[in-house]
Amino acid sequence: MNGETRTDLPFPVLPGGTVTFLFTDIEGSTQLLKQLREQYSTLLDEQRAIMNDAFATWGGHVVDTRGEEFFVAFPRATDAVAAAVDAQRGLAAHEWPEGIDVRVRMGLHTGEPWVAEAGYVGMDVHRAARIGNVGYGGQVLLSETTAALVMDELPDGVSLLDLGRHRLKDVRRMEQIRQVVIDGLLSEFPPLKSLETVLPDAAAEKPRHNLPSELTPFIGRQAELVQITDMLRNPSGRLLTLIGVGGMGKTRLSLRAAAELVEEFPHGVWLVEFAKLRDPELVPQHAAAALGVSAHEAGESRTIGDVLTSYLQDKKLLMLLDNCEHLIEACAEFAETLLRECPGVVLLATSRENLGIPGEQTFIVPALGVPPQTLLLQELETFEATHFFIDRAVAALPLFKPTLHNLPFIVDICRQLDGIPLAIELAAARVKILAPEQIAELLQDCFQLLTGGPRTALPRHQTLHATLEWSYNLLTEPEQQLFTRLSVFAGGWTLEDVEGLLSGDHLSRTDLLENLSNLVDKSLVSVSHNQEATRYGMLETVHQFASELLAASGEAEKYRGRHTDHFIALAEVADPLLRSADQMKWRDKLDAEHENFRAALRWATASDHADDAARLVGALGWFWFLRGYWGEARRWLTMSLDMVSDPEPRLRAKAICRAGGLELIQGNLDGPPDLVREALDIFTDLGDEEGMAWCLNLLGQVSSWAKLNLE
Ligand SMILES: Nc1ncnc2c1ncn2[C@@H]1O[C@H](COP(=O)(O)OP(=O)(O)OP(=O)(O)O)[C@@H](O)[C@H]1O
Ligand SMILES: [Mg+2]
Repeated sequence: MNGETRTDLPFPVLPGGTVTFLFTDIEGSTQLLKQLREQYSTLLDEQRAIMNDAFATWGGHVVDTRGEEFFVAFPRATDAVAAAVDAQRGLAAHEWPEGIDVRVRMGLHTGEPWVAEAGYVGMDVHRAARIGNVGYGGQVLLSETTAALVMDELPDGVSLLDLGRHRLKDVRRMEQIRQVVIDGLLSEFPPLKSLETVLPDAAAEKPRHNLPSELTPFIGRQAELVQITDMLRNPSGRLLTLIGVGGMGKTRLSLRAAAELVEEFPHGVWLVEFAKLRDPELVPQHAAAALGVSAHEAGESRTIGDVLTSYLQDKKLLMLLDNCEHLIEACAEFAETLLRECPGVVLLATSRENLGIPGEQTFIVPALGVPPQTLLLQELETFEATHFFIDRAVAALPLFKPTLHNLPFIVDICRQLDGIPLAIELAAARVKILAPEQIAELLQDCFQLLTGGPRTALPRHQTLHATLEWSYNLLTEPEQQLFTRLSVFAGGWTLEDVEGLLSGDHLSRTDLLENLSNLVDKSLVSVSHNQEATRYGMLETVHQFASELLAASGEAEKYRGRHTDHFIALAEVADPLLRSADQMKWRDKLDAEHENFRAALRWATASDHADDAARLVGALGWFWFLRGYWGEARRWLTMSLDMVSDPEPRLRAKAICRAGGLELIQGNLDGPPDLVREALDIFTDLGDEEGMAWCLNLLGQVSSWAKLNLE
């Protein structure tokens, strides 16, 4: 209907002045028609009766109806919303044939149209229609104007949810859209199908940061904190990079500094953790996700980076870009854009080398303060390194105590380890079975072996590497194997993930758990808990070390293959559940594993495992769509369809369907039809009715959207 009106109106007198428009449409009507055939007209009559009832009760004037659509005008906005709510309740309560759900999307907007002979005229009619079009079946959406009129007079059991600002087709100004949440009815939907989204203003919501809570006490670093926070408060440049070797405590220090500044940046402090990310092209998307900004890119011309910079243009916030070293060029480019386009944004980066862009200030993170060779017991805590050792040792063994006897060895360990926090942490984790004296001795042997001479010849990064080797060599063989194999995970893992990875290794659950918890005890694996799951991970430097071991073991291909199999299985289980009542749970689960999926995709595409790549993109397409990761989805889909080998036809057809759907929602109506017809042929040959239905639905949408565009 697209907002136009007809002359043969059933209601000759249209309300004038300020009018609230309601547009409604049944979702998936083509599917329903195919499923129900002649019964469909009965369904349509029942739907119309429910809707008309609600409109009549609340004084609505039906301006136009066509097929499954209604265009209704109300003299009062509150009545229009009440009618929409009644209609949704009526539809939900109705018993439909064959147990199907009839889901109607609704959009409301209030404006001051002209009432011409031919009906309503003016942009407000179009705006209301556009709002109706971006929603989903069962969803009721309000424009800013309508929301302002009704928000204090909502019907019982009804509330409003801010969905942020949206760019609508052919509407110049971005529209703040709110969803009407009706108790007992479906309230969670995918991101709106608008051209661009800016989620609700982060500044308006508490908390204004996404910093993780600290799991262990923070030791020392007071002078550094003062210096860093001062530099961020009065920046001469707006980028400060903390530099240091792996494990020196850059991340920890930057998190502390950022936490101290939360109240000083009106739009808060936001951590973007790059350690997990491997793909430089995803740097802007990764940052946008951390800030809660999502964008549905309008074709190639407007990227998520553009959306993020326009969102940040008027914000005063601190962004923490953590662990940039492995994506240094992409991070530098991203930082440079932010500095140029977003005058209120201040950046704190951590990296093993500087970003090398104009205006960058650097701060070299020093080692923890190391004591002189002889030290009094009461002075132990005045030096950061020894204080830190004791803190970590007590965490490992609560009965641990510094004594006159072990004191010189603790000092020796800290000095040998150059005051590098991660190295000290690895050594202190051993006090459960080794006395400081033994630890000091073993470390000395290890370093002597490495340098063939005195310990002082070792540069710092080698000290850490040697400490990691030392720690690794003290593991039992099964622990060593597990540690090495765990490095195939990217961005952490759950217990189920390890079980999936090792399922062919005939390892009992008890042994696995024991080995895993030993690695946690030895500080080689970190663990974090939230309500949903316990996740494990490795600090970046530790992960690198384990990856080197895996590469040298000759087992990398085998375990990467198994890793991929496990995550294909997970994606395939999750795919249909993303369209069920458990949608949010599965969406979050896939989000947590996203970097693992990417690792699997990278492996499958690089090693020409065409079936694996096609299965992954086929199963993840819906997730990417839901999360608004459309640009990324498009890239993986294209890569998987352009591989040297061809996947099995059914897998190819499914991937094509997902690719077609994504092209379509990004407004590309030219690309999909040929591809989707190819998929349709494949599904038809295979007699796969569900696949055929997907294709036909897509083709139907392409032709109806193309028609709308012509109009
Ligand atoms: N001041 C501190 N107080 C308590 N723990 C610390 C401190 N500094 C570092 N640590 C601990 O030492 C370990 C290494 O620190 P961190 O991860 O910050 O190093 P990094 O320099 O960021 O390393 P990478 O280069 O690998 O990213 C972590 O477990 C961290 O919690
Ligand atoms: Mg770090």
